[in-house]
Amino acid sequence: MPYLITEPTVIEAAGNKPKRIEEYAGGVNSEHEGVSVARMVSPEGWQEPGQRPEFEEITLVLKGTLRVEHVGGVLVVAAGQAVVTQPGEWVRYSSPEPGGAEYVAVCLPAFSPDTVHRDENDGGVEMTAPKMDLAKADAFADKLVGIINDGSLALMTSVGHRTGLFDTMASLAPSTSKEIAEAANLNERYVREWLGAMVTGRIVDHDAENGTYILPPEHAASLTRAAKADNIAVFTQYISVLGGVEDAIVDSFRNGGGVPYSEYPRFHEVMAEDSGLSSGAALVESILPLVPGLVERLEAGIDVLDVGCGSGHAINLIAQAFPKSRCVGYDFSEEAIVAARAEAERMGVMNARFAVRDVTVLNEAAGYDLITAFDAIHDQAKPRSVLKCIAEALRPDGTFLMQDIAGSSHVHKNLEHPIAPFLYTISCMHCMTVSLALDGEGLGAMWGEEKAHELLTEAGFTGVEVKRLSFDIQNAYYVITKG
Ligand SMILES: C[S@@+](CC[C@H](N)C(=O)[O-])C[C@H]1O[C@@H](n2cnc3c(N)ncnc32)[C@H](O)[C@@H]1O
Repeated sequence: MPYLITEPTVIEAAGNKPKRIEEYAGGVNSEHEGVSVARMVSPEGWQEPGQRPEFEEITLVLKGTLRVEHVGGVLVVAAGQAVVTQPGEWVRYSSPEPGGAEYVAVCLPAFSPDTVHRDENDGGVEMTAPKMDLAKADAFADKLVGIINDGSLALMTSVGHRTGLFDTMASLAPSTSKEIAEAANLNERYVREWLGAMVTGRIVDHDAENGTYILPPEHAASLTRAAKADNIAVFTQYISVLGGVEDAIVDSFRNGGGVPYSEYPRFHEVMAEDSGLSSGAALVESILPLVPGLVERLEAGIDVLDVGCGSGHAINLIAQAFPKSRCVGYDFSEEAIVAARAEAERMGVMNARFAVRDVTVLNEAAGYDLITAFDAIHDQAKPRSVLKCIAEALRPDGTFLMQDIAGSSHVHKNLEHPIAPFLYTISCMHCMTVSLALDGEGLGAMWGEEKAHELLTEAGFTGVEVKRLSFDIQNAYYVITKG
């Protein structure tokens, strides 16, 4: 038979400010042991010590907002919402917002001072969870908002690069969206929305009165094709290329394995553009001279092999600069080799040949004086076999020049690396996963100098010198010999 609970028992509350607890059902008012139901009213700024209760607690917020800190973060529970905490997990309730909070708490089994296990933060006993630094939490939330804005701008910058909008705008006086769209031969509605992102992202300046937009020359210096090696917009394309495989990457997080090269429709195109910038003029002027005497030997004529040559830009440049040398590029991507041959033809290079080859099996003992690998070792499925093949294919006095990502094998040593988050991301979403897709070692782009030394020594190389170029923050240059 139903019975009436005519009034609650008002219970003394824990916390820094008076809070009203009205227990309707529970150990005190109704002698329930299995469940307790209480209405609570907490003022603005109220906070109680953390607790690790033995009971499950369901809290339904009637008015205001209740803040619930837990080991993994914070939940802000608004009126009309409820929060459930599990037995044994640490939580701390507070109502920092104006107006405080009114809520109903249901505990299973019933609330008891013996089973709530409050932190004794004033008795010298250590808190069971770290104290939340609210300023730090707010600063981090701000950082995340910045990440969302900047990530969005990366996508829009990639679009600006691919559509030629930056190049067009760099040559225009202050212009309307219609004039910019016409000059770039693009749809005005899209251009106007893109300009919205560019203006609010402080990339493009806007004159609201005249309805015009201008790309400041200081910004054009990092965004246009005319900027050549300084065109950072090229690299924003990686963000969209990587975004295209997110579903497959998430699947690999769950099930292992990897995402094969074939899943990246624009990878070779973007990589070629990237390499074209980073190794363009610098290759002949700065990179090759890192090896003492190499330029003179190339001028005299030597045998050169580039492993994992991709679209072949590097080896075509070497062949063009040193017509007496005999140059070969191998890559297992047919698409890349077709592009490499086409470029050789465009450049009128006669001393470079390309073949679709898996460089894990070279079988060309002592065939080359110089072997190069530009960003092509860390994403190998079997990097150890490739390095052994290179060691075998190199003549005794030959040099292996390996350009690879600069960094340490230890994450804590990469904290000050200016582009470490980008490099770990491109590694996770491309370099590492393409290797794992082939049941490979999955070294990843951030395999680092320590690991590189280990693998090079194992392959039989005895002389390894690591060099850096002042203008290149991304790469280390390993000058390697057999001793
Ligand atoms: C990161 S890309 C670098 C391409 C080029 N060296 C550049 O700097 O633009 C790595 C290249 O290695 C190639 N590759 C990976 N494993 C290979 C293998 N076992 N044999 C031949 N090519 C391979 C890929 O197809 C890809 O073109």
